[in-house]
Formats: sequence, C-alpha cells, structure tokens
Amino acid sequence: MRTQVGIIGGGPSGLLLSQLLHLRGIDTVVLEKHSRDYVLRRIRAGVLEHGFAALMREAKVGERMDREGQIHEGFYIAHDGIKERVNLKELTGGNTVIVYGQTELTRDLYEGRDRLDGIVIHNAEDVKPHDFDTSRPYLTYRQGVDAVRVDCDYIIGCDGFHGVSRQSIPKDKMREYERVYPFGWLGVLSRTRPVSPELIYATHERGFALCSLRSPTLSRYYIQVPLTDSVEDWSDAKFFEELQRRLPEDVAAAMITGPSIEKSIAPLRSFVVEPMRFGRLFLAGDAAHIVPPTGARGLNSAASDIYYLYHALVDHYTKRDDAGLESYSRRALARVWKGQRFSWWMTALLHRFPDSSAYDRRLQETDLAYLFSSQKALASLAENYVGLPF
Ligand code: FAD
Ligand code: DHB
Repeated sequence: MRTQVGIIGGGPSGLLLSQLLHLRGIDTVVLEKHSRDYVLRRIRAGVLEHGFAALMREAKVGERMDREGQIHEGFYIAHDGIKERVNLKELTGGNTVIVYGQTELTRDLYEGRDRLDGIVIHNAEDVKPHDFDTSRPYLTYRQGVDAVRVDCDYIIGCDGFHGVSRQSIPKDKMREYERVYPFGWLGVLSRTRPVSPELIYATHERGFALCSLRSPTLSRYYIQVPLTDSVEDWSDAKFFEELQRRLPEDVAAAMITGPSIEKSIAPLRSFVVEPMRFGRLFLAGDAAHIVPPTGARGLNSAASDIYYLYHALVDHYTKRDDAGLESYSRRALARVWKGQRFSWWMTALLHRFPDSSAYDRRLQETDLAYLFSSQKALASLAENYVGLPF
C-alpha cells in the first residue's frame, strides 16, 4: 500500500490530522492498535479551547460539538469553605471554553473519516515505522496472519504516551524532560445532574477535587488520591463522601450522588520530548508531551501540534514550501512548554503534596490569595486556561 502521510494512532490527534489533510486532497492512512469500540470507551478530557473547536469546524466535524457542547464563560476555585469565580469571558476580552467530551469528539472524527471513506485501520498489530531517517520511510503492521507494508512520504506519530513512535527514535537523538507527581486523580462519571453548571476546582487540606460535567444529566467528578490506591479501594459511597468533604458546605449539600458508570485512576505526569521531529518522523500530541490534567491542557496541546503540522504539510504538497516542516518542532515546542508551565502551576496551586513543608503551604496559600487580589494575576490564569494563540 502507498500513501502520502502515514499516521500511527487513531486518537483525537491522528484522526483530526487525517481528516484535515484529506479535505485538502492529501492521502493518509491511520493505523490504530485497538478497536474503534475500545478507543471510544476511554473517558478523558472535557474542556476544549476555541482554537481546537475551530480546527474541528475546519475539519467539517464541528456540527454536533456546536449543537451539544456547552460554552462556559467562567469556572470556580473553591478554598477555605468558599468558592470564587474566574470570569474567563471578562478577563480575556470575550474568550470562553467549550465543555464537550473527548469521547464525543472522537466519535465525530470517526464519523467524519467514514463519510469521506478515509482509511483508518483498526486492530493493527505490531505497527513499526522504518527508514524515517531516509527519503523513503515506510510502516509495517500485522493484521491476523497478514503482514502489511505502507510506503509513505512522512510518518506522523500520534500514538500517545506509550506508543511506538517516540520509542523508535534513537535515544541519543532526543532529550526527555519529566516530572512525576506523587498522586493521581480518581475520576467518576455518573448519570446525575451536575452539582454546578460551571466547573469547580477545589483545594482542601484532604486534597484536590474537581466537579466537572459532560451534559446537564452527566457529571464528571475527580479527587486527588495517593498513587498506592486502586479503583477497588473506592466504592461509590466512599468516593462521594470524600468528594463532599473537600467542597464548601453549600456545594456538598447540593450534590446529587448516584452510581458510577465509569471509574478510573490516572497518574499525574509532566513530560516533553525534544525535538518533536526526527528525519521524516514527526511526533504530535501525547506521543511527545504529557501534562497533569489540572489546567485542561492535554488535548488542547495536541490541537496546536496538529494545527502546525496540518499547515506545514499543506504548504509542502501544494506550494513545495518546506519552511513549516522545518520549523515544526521549534514552533510546537514553544507552545507546548507554555502549556507545561500552566499545568504545573495549577497543579502546584491546588494539590496537597505529601512531602510539603509548612513553608511550602504558606507559599501555596499566598499564591491563592494573590490570585484573587489581583486582576492581572486572574487575567493571566484566564488567558492560559482559554488557550494561548497558536
Ligand atoms: P491518545 O488519545 O492517547 O491516542 C493515541 C492513540 O494511539 C490511541 O488510540 C492508541 O490506542 C493508539 N496507539 C498507541 N500505541 C499504538 C501503536 N503502537 N500502534 C498503533 N496505535 C497505537 N486531558 C485533559 O485535558 N483533561 C482530562 O481530564 C484528561 N484525562 C486523561 C486521562 C487519562 C487516563 C489519559 C491517558 C489522558 C487524559 N487527558 C486529559 C489527556 C488527553 O486525553 C490527551 O492529551 C489526548 O487523548 C491526546 O490525544 P492523542 O491523540 O495525542 O493521544
Ligand atoms: C475535566 C478534566 C480536566 O482535567 C479539567 O481540568 C477540566 C475538566 C473533565 O474531564 O471534565
């Protein structure tokens, strides 16, 4: 098989890039390790920046997002028994975010690919990129007993943090930057009315908590837990009891609890690999960088990579202009690091660190007090939360 752009990974990054390129007449093949059902069962991000939403519309898959997604003009930070609002719209001169689940967005992308007869190969086993340091790269994979080869001009690694793409680059050609946090997030999805129409990020001496949502009838809640905990340690009753203890009294009293329909623990990690390109292999999204989820940057950082790559590949194929491909890694990393900084800062502001000193705690309290005493500090938070320009 031959294509122009071979894409490893059928998550949001790979599907969005393939859809955008297809609409500009550029051929792609997406190789996804898992089944479509498996990919659609993963509950992950919920908050989209407008830059991401604009790309979804450009990819002609934004219709349901615009119909069913909820525009959020602000969110709350709860601390010391009260909640204070961050008015995103006012602080950013009109910008907002969209609450629309990654599951729904991925479903829309799959439907978009189907409508155009895009090639997405599921259950592709043992995918490997080859010869990407030459001008003739190719991919191989197995499907049952069949071994398949896909020749291409470029390979794009969109295969997430544990994928094969980054691991195929020689170790001495890249540098990894990493911070692992000593806690995780236990998340619960519940078919109940959300406790608040806007997100509440809560900091409490027992740990961080987040009240989020997917729709007026679907709540998504998280609590900070030690890395040693497992899902089996947390019955629904215990989860909601702990969540309520970390929230202001009026919020806790208003909470409607109900059985979980999904429950999982995600460890928190910051990670960046540099550069994001090696020869004709380009990395995008979680394959190249991970953030702790606190600032809702994960998926949104993937979107800017896709934006840069999309334009670079269109310039290459339509104008024979390779400037975008040459500058991809530098431009993508400049924005990625800003997302890293913001996610680290919001994580440090709102979580309880097991090894923190009394001094560290005072600094954390002062950071929060400063935030709500300075319009400039709040504006900086808001500007980062709605997404810096691509
Ligand atoms: P992924 O979504 O990881 O997609 C990669 C795809 O590649 C997957 O479908 C995978 O099956 C496939 N793949 C992997 N290896 C191979 C291989 N060898 N061959 C072929 N295919 C392969 N972000 C937020 O903003 N908010 C959140 O609440 C949030 N929660 C998260 C919870 C978890 C458990 C995780 C892991 C991430 C979370 N994120 C969150 C981050 C966000 O979901 C990611 O940033 C986003 O999914 C990145 O998209 P991606 O397409 O780059 O990678
Ligand atoms: C959600 C996750 C986040 O990490 C975040 O910052 C906001 C919302 C969510 O899953 O709804």
